[in-house]
Amino acid sequence: MATTLPPDRLDLSNLDAWAERPGTVDETFARLRAEDPIAWFPEPVSELFGQGPGFWSLTRHADVVEASRHPDLFCSGRGTNIPDMPTEFNEFFGSMINMDDPRHARLRRIVSRGFTPRQLDAMRGDVESIAAGIVDDVAERGACDLVTEVAALLPLRIIVDLLGIPRAEERAIFDRTNVILGLGDPEYVPDQTDAGIMTAAITAGQELAGLVRELGEARQRDPGDDLISALVTAEVDGEKLSPEELGSFFILLVVAGNETTRNAIAHGVHLLSEHPDQRDRWAADPDGLAPTAVEEIVRCSTPVIHFRRTATRDGVHIGGHEFSEGDKVVLWYRSANRDETVFDEPDRFDITRTPNDHVGFGGPGPHFCLGAHLARREITVAFRELLRRLPDLHVSAPPERLRSNFINGIKHLQVEFTPSPRT
Ligand code: HEM
Repeated sequence: MATTLPPDRLDLSNLDAWAERPGTVDETFARLRAEDPIAWFPEPVSELFGQGPGFWSLTRHADVVEASRHPDLFCSGRGTNIPDMPTEFNEFFGSMINMDDPRHARLRRIVSRGFTPRQLDAMRGDVESIAAGIVDDVAERGACDLVTEVAALLPLRIIVDLLGIPRAEERAIFDRTNVILGLGDPEYVPDQTDAGIMTAAITAGQELAGLVRELGEARQRDPGDDLISALVTAEVDGEKLSPEELGSFFILLVVAGNETTRNAIAHGVHLLSEHPDQRDRWAADPDGLAPTAVEEIVRCSTPVIHFRRTATRDGVHIGGHEFSEGDKVVLWYRSANRDETVFDEPDRFDITRTPNDHVGFGGPGPHFCLGAHLARREITVAFRELLRRLPDLHVSAPPERLRSNFINGIKHLQVEFTPSPRT
């Protein structure tokens, strides 16, 4: 296997390209889908861990779906990010996202109880009133940073309320999740040495786990109707979550729940600003078009760019390629969501697109996003409120993008609109 890339191929580990030239990344994916859909890439050299063996890139929709459907052949338990980390590290940060059955199934059964449609229906009013309050807070000003003042606050407040965390802890959670998913970005982790990055990740994780440990102990003594109470009291087949499992699931939930929906909303505002015809169409029928518009925002923005799997045995085939045991296989959702064999004119943003079989919430399989219903509801409500209250909202400066090939993040997005009075 070659150890270097062909000279004309963009290195998918080049984080500066992702932040500064996202168009070149999409061109690279288009070429890979056409010419080399399962291409091998080297891994960057790490000061702490040396250089990993490299990874295979699945860029076609069909191949991403196929790998997701076969967790027995392409597992998650050896890590779902590209660099290899110790198992304890993966489980501490990733909880069940980095596990295989039977442990994954057991954890998912316990935590799913907090995410039933009935439970989420009960929150409908909360999502609406939180969104209204957030838009109210900026409406009179005529301009704001859409990410930090609107998009980030809605999922953050929802998850904090859902879990039963005091609002006073909101800011601390925001900062810690920014660090965990912004490890490659100097705005969140100024010390960009490998040691600095590891220290920042572990510190942020331990602080989040410490917070939930205290809350968990309190709720065990005095349960309420929040998710932490449900998790500390839940029993499946006579088993409960251990304090470590609770801490890790909490980290996964606040990270996954915050950093993804926030970016979907920010990208959605950016896309609508670039396509005013689509914005006008949606504004004319906010509820009627929300189901297709939300899916199209998730497809076009693909907030989670990839997850990784590892081949569990020799001789496993996908798309005509034979994998060997231990091969790292990266599922590039961003590329799959622009696959021209599945999506008609994939670069067109069309809020009425049907069908829209995107893999923005993951491919079909046991790890499909647990929060997909909640995320859809949050995005729907955010846009209903923005389109109604600030109908001429538009982007006034280029987005500041996160330096990452894992999260398609916008860190800051300046917007302007005609001021409107508080309601
Ligand atoms: C637009 C918003 C979101 C996007 C794009 C997104 C994306 C994803 C993706 C791609 C996966 C698949 C992981 C894999 O296959 O390895 C996933 C899993 C997961 N997501 Fe989301 N997510 C979003 C919102 C949320 C929210 C709001 C929550 C919770 C409050 C959440 C919680 C989770 C959890 C717990 C998993 C792990 C499921 C498992 O391993 O069984 N996500 N998400």
